Amino acid sequence: MRILNKEAVSRIGEEVELKGWVHARRDHGKLVFIDLRDRSGLIQLVFTPDIPDYDKAQSLRLEWVIGIKGTVAARPETMVNPEIETGRIEIQVKELEVISEAKTPPFEIDTDGRDISEDTRMKYRYLDLRQKRMADNMRNRNKIIRYMREYLAKKDFVEIETPIISKSTPEGARDYLVPSRVYPGKFYALPQSPQQYKQLLMVAGFERYFQIARCFRDEDSRGDRQPEFTQLDIEMSFVDEKEVMALAEELYLGLVADLYPKKKVKLGPDGRIPVMTYKEAMEKYGSDKPDIRDNKNDPDELAFLFVVDFPAFEWKETEKRWDAVHHPFTQPKVKDVAEFKEMFAKDPAAIPAKQYDFVLNGYEIGGGSIRIHDPELLEAVFEAMGNDPEIVRERFGHMLEAFRYGVPPHGGIAPGIDRFVMVMQNEPNIREVIAFPKTGDGRDLMMDAPSEVDKSQLDELGFEIKKKTK
Ligand code: AMO
Repeated sequence: MRILNKEAVSRIGEEVELKGWVHARRDHGKLVFIDLRDRSGLIQLVFTPDIPDYDKAQSLRLEWVIGIKGTVAARPETMVNPEIETGRIEIQVKELEVISEAKTPPFEIDTDGRDISEDTRMKYRYLDLRQKRMADNMRNRNKIIRYMREYLAKKDFVEIETPIISKSTPEGARDYLVPSRVYPGKFYALPQSPQQYKQLLMVAGFERYFQIARCFRDEDSRGDRQPEFTQLDIEMSFVDEKEVMALAEELYLGLVADLYPKKKVKLGPDGRIPVMTYKEAMEKYGSDKPDIRDNKNDPDELAFLFVVDFPAFEWKETEKRWDAVHHPFTQPKVKDVAEFKEMFAKDPAAIPAKQYDFVLNGYEIGGGSIRIHDPELLEAVFEAMGNDPEIVRERFGHMLEAFRYGVPPHGGIAPGIDRFVMVMQNEPNIREVIAFPKTGDGRDLMMDAPSEVDKSQLDELGFEIKKKTK
């Protein structure tokens, strides 16, 4: 039975069976050395001319998949390699099986990959992911997500999946649309976030929801932005801002202590994550996501921060209307509808919101708010943002209706997982921590997406592509 490379360490003198990829080869004429790679790491194989498979061993090339049987031997003290976990042993091979051959890879697998052109890495992402740095990023991302799941399960949260094919929900970006075949001319939208569903789950009485949620936003990619990304989406009933922030604080500080014990976390004098108002952040740092690290060159310093008291509304010059700074479901700090209308008429920009952003080392790693649960106030906010009542009812009638069936006060937060993993892994952009990201210009070079589709598919949808005139 096959064992893992790292398990051979405790089997000195025994015969073992190993399988994996040829990571490196050194042919010394009389001896062939192979570094065999499997998911647990590397191990050194030694082939001597007296074995029947020696010719085969000489023909081995990088990245071939092989299986071997051999004896685990301790290396002489002078040959010990302290760099690898199996550095004190090697395998004296007796039998070799070539399971599958490999073309010469377009780049070397045993580097950190930083010098390879991004297009080549993306086109051959499955080879790129063989590199140790990338594999570590994926494994640590997985550990982070597992920690989140376990923490929230202990706190009585329910993980619930919400639809991907859905209706447009406003988060400020452009929607990805999915045409309906059954209802020609009608469209689903991919969710920019599960915002409305999670609020409806509060109406449904779950009280504590979370989801490792995929979100879709048709916006230009940047280092910390992808058209498709993942949030740890959270919503809670009967809570105020402090309680939501305290939950995020406990989760993230616990996670760092557990999974990244070497990182130094900068906390406030009270031993907690500092909280700063939006006004103070803008005045002192000129940014709503200030980097408050003492030493910005130290990759192991983490400075979390909550920014609070954002204004609820901002003027959108292009659309000539007031828009929500976070999203329209965010609770403005007002007593009731009458006070809201009065304050909005006077100075919309002066109304603060029950909104909080979660910041780490200058990145916005999360955002959330307490929501409006009074349907009259929600309607008034939508109208204040320039939607006529007709449109409000058409787009958000389901929310207004739901809130008339016994809605608990609720709020939540959605930390972006990609950005957090990027910072924790000391990576310069989120493409390094997503298995199959899009390129800067929104393409998947490996699958060649987006791509044209068959005419029959278009016909079925009642679509015709207008020829682009240059
Ligand atoms: P928001 O739009 O602030 O809030 O998003 C929450 C967090 O998601 C991450 N994020 C992104 N990460 C990668 N690529 C992107 N294109 C991208 N856009 C956002 C950021 C951000 O802080 N529904 C609300 C949350 C709530 O109110 O509970 C929402 O989506 O880390």
